[in-house]
Order: sequence, then C-alpha cells, then structure tokens
Amino acid sequence: MSQLSAIRERIRNLHMVDEKIILKELAEMHGPSKPNREKITAQATDLIYRTRNSGNPGLMEVFLAEYGLSTNEGIALMCLAEALLRVPDADTIDELIEDKIAPSPWGKHLGKSSSSLVNASTWALMLTGKVLKDHETQGLADILRGALKRLGEPIIRIAVKRAMREMGHQFVLGRDINEAMKRASKQEKKGFTYSYDMLGEAALTSHDANTFFEAYRNALKRLAPQAKQHNIRENPGISIKLSALHPRYELSQKDRVMRELVPRLVDLALLAKETQMGLNIDAEEAGRLDLSLDVIEAVFRSPKFAGWDGFGVVVQAYGKRAAAIIDWLNELAKEFDRTIMVRLVKGAYWDTEIKQAQVDGVRDFPVFTEKAATDVSYICCAKKLLDYSDRIYPQFATHNAHTVCAILNMAKHNQSYEFQRLHGMGEALHKLVIEKEKTRCRIYAPVGAHRDLLAYLVRRLLENGANSSFVNQIVDEDVSPELIAADPFEALKYGTQLRKQMVAKPTDIYQPKRPNSVGWDLQNCDDLQKFEHARSNFKTYNWVAKPIIRGMTWSDKPAQVFSPNNPDNHIGYVAKASPQMVEVALRSASSWTVSAEERGDILNKAADLYEKNAGEIFSALCREAGKTAPDAVSEIREAVDFLRFYSSEAKRTADYPERGIITCISPWNFPLAIFTGQISAALAAGNGVLAKPAEPTPIIASIGVKLM
Ligand code: FAD
Ligand code: 2OP
Repeated sequence: MSQLSAIRERIRNLHMVDEKIILKELAEMHGPSKPNREKITAQATDLIYRTRNSGNPGLMEVFLAEYGLSTNEGIALMCLAEALLRVPDADTIDELIEDKIAPSPWGKHLGKSSSSLVNASTWALMLTGKVLKDHETQGLADILRGALKRLGEPIIRIAVKRAMREMGHQFVLGRDINEAMKRASKQEKKGFTYSYDMLGEAALTSHDANTFFEAYRNALKRLAPQAKQHNIRENPGISIKLSALHPRYELSQKDRVMRELVPRLVDLALLAKETQMGLNIDAEEAGRLDLSLDVIEAVFRSPKFAGWDGFGVVVQAYGKRAAAIIDWLNELAKEFDRTIMVRLVKGAYWDTEIKQAQVDGVRDFPVFTEKAATDVSYICCAKKLLDYSDRIYPQFATHNAHTVCAILNMAKHNQSYEFQRLHGMGEALHKLVIEKEKTRCRIYAPVGAHRDLLAYLVRRLLENGANSSFVNQIVDEDVSPELIAADPFEALKYGTQLRKQMVAKPTDIYQPKRPNSVGWDLQNCDDLQKFEHARSNFKTYNWVAKPIIRGMTWSDKPAQVFSPNNPDNHIGYVAKASPQMVEVALRSASSWTVSAEERGDILNKAADLYEKNAGEIFSALCREAGKTAPDAVSEIREAVDFLRFYSSEAKRTADYPERGIITCISPWNFPLAIFTGQISAALAAGNGVLAKPAEPTPIIASIGVKLM
C-alpha cells in the first residue's frame, strides 16, 4: 500500500473516533509548552484590550451581541432573516414578520447596547411589534390599531427587506465580481489581499452547477489583470465550493463525480495557473470530505499543474480527521514535488454536523463537541502546518485573538504564512495585527446575488450570534478579556475531568427511554459498502407473500410481481386475500392478552429483528417500492423507532384498557414504517390487529409481519 493510501485509510478510521483519544494525542505531540501557553494567553489578553479600545466594532457584531442566539428575540430575527430570503409573495412575508416580531418583548433590549443604531433598531422592532399585535376589535383604539396595521404593513415589509439587504451587504462584497473588485480596492491599498468566493453551493440541477461554474470562470478572467505580482501569495485568489459545481456531489455518485467534476475543476485551476492566482477548495459538510479528497488528488496529479504553487485546500480543525488530512496533503505535495496552500479553519458547519449525526443515528460525531477541543485541535494542526512549511503554505483563517497569538508564538518567520479573515468580520483585530506584526492578511469575500446568499448568511449569523464565539464575546463588555483569552488546553483538562458529555451522542438522543435506531451513514465508505453488501444477498431473491391469519400462512394461487422501477426485475409472488379469508380473519381476531410488560418486550425484540434483517428489508424496499438507498435507510429506522417508542408506551400506559380489534390500513409511500407504526401502536395497548398492506407493497408488509 502506498504511503498516500495508508494515510487515507487512517483518515477513514478516525472519522468517528472517541474525541478524548485524539485530543490527548494532539496535545501531547503538538501542543505548546506550559510557559508558551501562558505567554500566548497574556499576549491575547492584551490584543483583546487593544481591539476593544480601538473602538470600531462592526455594526453586525454589535447588533448580534444584543440579539444573540441565546435570546428568543435573536432566534426570532434569525428565523426571519433565514425565511425572508426565500418567501416569494407579499402576503406570506407580512404573516411571517407578524409571526416573528409581534410576540417578543423587544422593549427589554432598549438602552442595553452602547450603539445608538442598535437601540434605534430596538425601537423600530418594539413599535412594529405593538402595531402588529393582533387584537379582537372591541373599541375605537383597536379599530385604529387595525387600520394602522393595514396601512403599515407595506412599509414594515419594505423596512424589513431593506434591513435584510443591509445585512447581506455586511457579509457580501458585491453582487457581481466587478462590484466586488471595486469595493475591494480600499482594503487592497491598506495591504490586504482577497480570495473571492462566488456564492452558491449544493447545486441540485445541472443548470445551477453550470451557472456557478460560469461565475467562477468569469471571475477568474476578470481578476487576471489584477494578478500582477510575481509572488502568487500577493495576488488575489479564488475560493470554490465543489458542491456548487456538480448536482450530485455525493459518495454514492462517485464515478459520475470523478468523470464530470474533475475536468471542470481542472479547467478552472488551469485558468488560475495561467494568471498566477491561487485557487482554493473550501471545506464543506463532513459527509463530503472523503469524496473531496478523491477529487483533490485527481486534479493535483495532473502534470499540467507542475510548477504552480497556487492549489489550495481547506482543513477544518473541528473535524476529528483534521491532523491526518494535513499529513496526507504534505505527502501529496512531496510525491509530486510541489507546494500546496492549506487554509486552516475551525469549521462553519458545527450545528449541522451535530444535528445531522443525531438524526442519522450514527456511532459518534465527526466533529469535536467542546469549543475548547476545536481550539486545541486548531493550534496543534497549525503547529503541524508550520512544521511542514517547506511543502505547505499555511493560511490561518481565524478571528480569534488567542488563536492568532498562538500562531504568532509558534511561527518562526512572519512571511512563511498568512492570516485570513472573512469580509465583514474581525476587521479591528486584524488591522492591529497587520500593523504590529507585518504579517500578510487575506480577506475571504463572497460575491453574488441575494438569492444565493441564504446558506452562507445563516452560517455567519450562527457564528456571530453564538455566545461561545470570539466575535460575539469581543463586543460583550460583560465578558472580561482574561476570560476570552483563557487557555483552551487548560479548559479542556478541566472539562474532561469534571464535565459530562454536553451534547447527547447520536445513539443516545432518546435515552433514558430508548436507544436510537441504528444509522447507516451512506456518505461514509464503510457504511456504504456494508449497506451494499447487506442487500446484495437479496438482489435476485423471489419472495412469496400470502395472507397470514393468527400466524398461519393461507395458501392461494400467487401471481408474479415485478419491480415498479424495472419491469424486468421479477421480485416474487403475491397471493391476495379472498373475501372469505377476510371473514375468517375478522372472526378469529382477538385482543392481545399478554401483560403490558411482555408486550413491550416483544415489540422491542421485533425492533431488534428488523435491524438484524436490514439487508433483506433494504432490498425489498428498493425492489418492491422503488425506494432509493437513503430512503430505504430512513424507512427501516422509522419502523424500528416506532416499535421501540410503542414498546416504552406499552409499559407507561399499562393500566389503560384495550379497545378491541383495530384495523390498520397503510399507504404505499411508507410501506414498512407506517405499516409497522400503526400495528405496533395498536398492539402496545393490548389490541388485536387486522392489517391490510398497501396494494403495491404486500411483500414488504409480509416481511414485517413475519418478523413481528
Ligand atoms: P472562534 O469563536 O474561536 O471559534 C468558533 C468555532 O468554534 C465555530 O465556528 C466552530 O467551528 C467551533 N465550535 C463552536 N462551538 C463548538 C463546540 N461546542 N464544539 C466544538 N467546536 C465548536 N469554514 C468552513 O467550514 N469551510 C471553509 O472553507 C471556510 N473558509 C473560511 C475562510 C476564511 C478566510 C475564514 C476566516 C473562515 C472560513 N471558514 C470556513 C469559517 C470558519 O470555520 C469560521 O469562521 C471559524 O470557525 C470561526 O473561528 P474563529 O477562530 O474565528 O472563532
Ligand atoms: C462558508 O461558506 C466561509 O467557506 C465558509 O461558511
């Protein structure tokens, strides 16, 4: 096995490893010494004082300090901002504004912020809330209020839309590359460089992917005359999200992605190379990482890029695989005798990663769960990058004073790396650093139309609004500089000793009531292979489904059935129940007389059996119901969840009397989940059940009944 493949294997194994193990290893191998950590903290405290005293925090930073995500009002505004960008009609916009603004007590924020603009906004929100509050019309005052509301709505709508546009302006440099370049010139004169990001990600159609591709190509062409420096590190660059360039950027479509996306990326990279610019691959959701590394390697291997030092990759320090990815990138550069740019970030998708892993019921998280852990990982990864600087040009993207001071402390030469910040964030801090340390700093600048801003804007609002974020704390005078600059290595030690896991593991989100259903992460190579292997035994299997009454299978002449998405795929034989059989079933049905405790245990056992027979169920769901692989996974998990949920309900409601015989008629779109859910609910309460599956999916129902 080549060195590169061996590291890839290690990267895969680290995906969901226990975070304590990896942090211990990182801190021991790459963490600064205690005296150095003390120096960093002292330097960071000073930098925070100086940043605060420089007296120029951005409007958005101050606004979000008052309306952060730890207040209901902040959450209401966040929902409003997120939703407004995609609501098309005026009536819905009015309803949405009313829904979000009217119920909250805005007055309590009045005068709290030191910014007069934030206080003015609070006034506006408070008045808007008062006008919009729905009252029964009783007297003259209410009639007047009603009239004011009707007259006021268009004005409020325009004002809120303007506010949203203002917010967009804060985080987006320009609606197109020309506008962005014009706005960039001011900072360029002060010594900053730019990396332009054409807004757009997670394309769902080829049309969108083509549009984003053209936007990047156009931007590279427009930027070419600006790339005047011989040293690529002093020229503008471009940042690309691979998910914008392909409509099916997912592991299960790997062959297609490699065939279609790699040549597109090569085209863009060649344009960047010709003009001596950097081209950077942004890091996105953890599920896309393995595929991204394949794409990166395929492009990097191309001999066309010999002699070009501008290919860049982003590594997210919150990911458990971060340090190993840096080893892999270093090895890649060594193998092809090139240098590579590596931007180190903490990671912008933390909330998504946590929620997605919990929803998917996977073993663990791909990211760390404590803020201090990400800070420690960042510093240790930074040390690795600095140690590899003969092959790697490190780009440290952070707005955090402590992290910046750690880099300054660890780096030997101030020109062997650069800092980076996002447009609209960390302005005051980086101004001070560039002035004093003479380091390079690049600004990441999103460019694009309002309609493509949503995902990026939500990530920025989450980042600015979270009270654990540096950008939030620096404008909150209640948090002391000493606290903000605290050593994360110490915080982590304290945390692992005293604190319990603060974020519930994906397997435990329903505990103590019940375990989560087992998840299959189809964005993970191992799980995808296991899934394919499990269902492969039933690829050509022919099932036989017949009516089952009190556990006995009733024979009748079965008919051949075929897959709805492939009429040549013979899936088995189905015998329908005759009217006489229905009569027999009705007459022989009776309540379920076992104890509630036992009913619960039996339902739990059925859940275990469903999971044990997942391969057969996946195959039947895909072949009989035409489900896709992810839908098949969701379906079995929902069925298992129903069984475990009703099992715990059976025990909780043991004293409730049963109702008798329940007839369950289920739809075809959830042939196992809803079928199982209805039946297990009725059984849990001690009833007898007559179950009629949907006509197109009797085989799946029969597998479920046999397992139950
Ligand atoms: P800090 O406040 O010190 O850190 C905040 C970060 O800590 C959060 O974003 C999160 O990563 C982490 N965190 C918060 N809570 C927890 C917790 N409970 N457990 C574990 N970790 C936690 N991000 C990408 O994902 N991909 C990119 O390609 C990318 N490109 C960027 C380019 C530039 C130039 C910059 C400046 C940022 C980029 N980012 C990217 C965004 C970046 O990830 C965030 O801006 C960054 O995480 C903020 O870190 P900080 O050091 O500024 O702030
Ligand atoms: C994001 O899009 C900056 O790449 C980072 O959130």
